[in-house]
Amino acid sequence: MRIMEYFKIGGSATIPAIGLGTWRIGGSISDEPDYLNDEYYIGALRKAFDLGYRLVDTAELYGGGHTEELIGEALKSYPREEFFIISKVWHTHLHYEDVLKAAERTLKRLQLEYIDLYLIHWPNPHVPINETIKALEKLIDDGKVKYMGVSNFCLTQLQEALDSTSKYEIVANEVKYSALDRKVEEDLLPFARENNIRIVAYTPLERGNINTALLIGLASKYSKTVNQIALNYLMCQEAVPIPRALREEHLLENLGASGWRLSKDDVEKLSATPVSKRDKERIVVSTAEALRRLGIENVDKFLRKEWAVKEDKNILKNLITRLLRKLFWE
Ligand SMILES: NC(=O)c1ccc[n+]([C@@H]2O[C@H](COP(=O)([O-])OP(=O)(O)OC[C@H]3O[C@@H](n4cnc5c(N)ncnc54)[C@H](OP(=O)(O)O)[C@@H]3O)[C@@H](O)[C@H]2O)c1
Repeated sequence: MRIMEYFKIGGSATIPAIGLGTWRIGGSISDEPDYLNDEYYIGALRKAFDLGYRLVDTAELYGGGHTEELIGEALKSYPREEFFIISKVWHTHLHYEDVLKAAERTLKRLQLEYIDLYLIHWPNPHVPINETIKALEKLIDDGKVKYMGVSNFCLTQLQEALDSTSKYEIVANEVKYSALDRKVEEDLLPFARENNIRIVAYTPLERGNINTALLIGLASKYSKTVNQIALNYLMCQEAVPIPRALREEHLLENLGASGWRLSKDDVEKLSATPVSKRDKERIVVSTAEALRRLGIENVDKFLRKEWAVKEDKNILKNLITRLLRKLFWE
């Protein structure tokens, strides 16, 4: 088993420098549970743990809760104290009592006594942030959560969240961040560094389609793969990437991104290089391909499906609109 590299979090605790994402493990993009492939998913998770992964990112939303059930099942035969488990409360459960109940359900599905880091998955302007934070602090007081944090919070929302704490700190913000999508470097990343907030980087491989000319050049210079350069870049920025991988070769390749560092010059070169129009288009093509592979060729039709509740539909719609706007016009 590979020895994990760690970063500091929440003052004195540690978090593995690279983790395992679990979105669409045990569920489709619509977050409907997929009960047909449990054995395969549990096997893949155990393979990841055997290879050395000790950080798992999940959410109550994933697979309608089934992803957490699969993780719980897979984790059973490993020492709990070695693991750092992140889960998230969905934006429709942010009132005080709802947060407490959501955490209980998550703990039950994970078969755990505590969650290491519990995040607000998305901000919800209709629920006062201090009400949600109060509930997270209660969970920490009760020993059900070790640390609290947020996800998809912009700088203003993060500052508001920080101002709402009374007993414990916000220790992390999980946001989209990759070597191609570096918007967080403009404001969130420097702010996070100054305020001891760990950035957890989601979709760090742009869903497996991140090869740009510069990354290819660096891969050859360091005798690493393009994905390893892309993940290492995030770690050099002190962010924790959480690539999702099911295949053993991907799990191994991604682990190989830790334990070494790009030079300061190369990090600066990467962070100074504007994302070309061609690379932006590459992401659009890969996103469209991913949606097609999931059988979602017509986004509008997908959004009209009955199972999606209105608010979830809006979030998905906003996400897709934001992504397309970002890629084509920003
Ligand atoms: N907080 C949030 O709102 C939020 C939003 C999105 C995601 N997330 C979290 O972040 C995690 C990662 O993001 P993501 O799943 O969107 O995207 P990602 O990690 O960038 O990409 C995952 C895809 O890339 C493939 N892949 C992984 N390693 C690879 C490699 N070395 N070479 C080639 N392909 C590789 C995987 O294939 P295989 O699985 O077949 O190996 C999978 O199809 C999620 O699983 C979730 O836990 C959080």
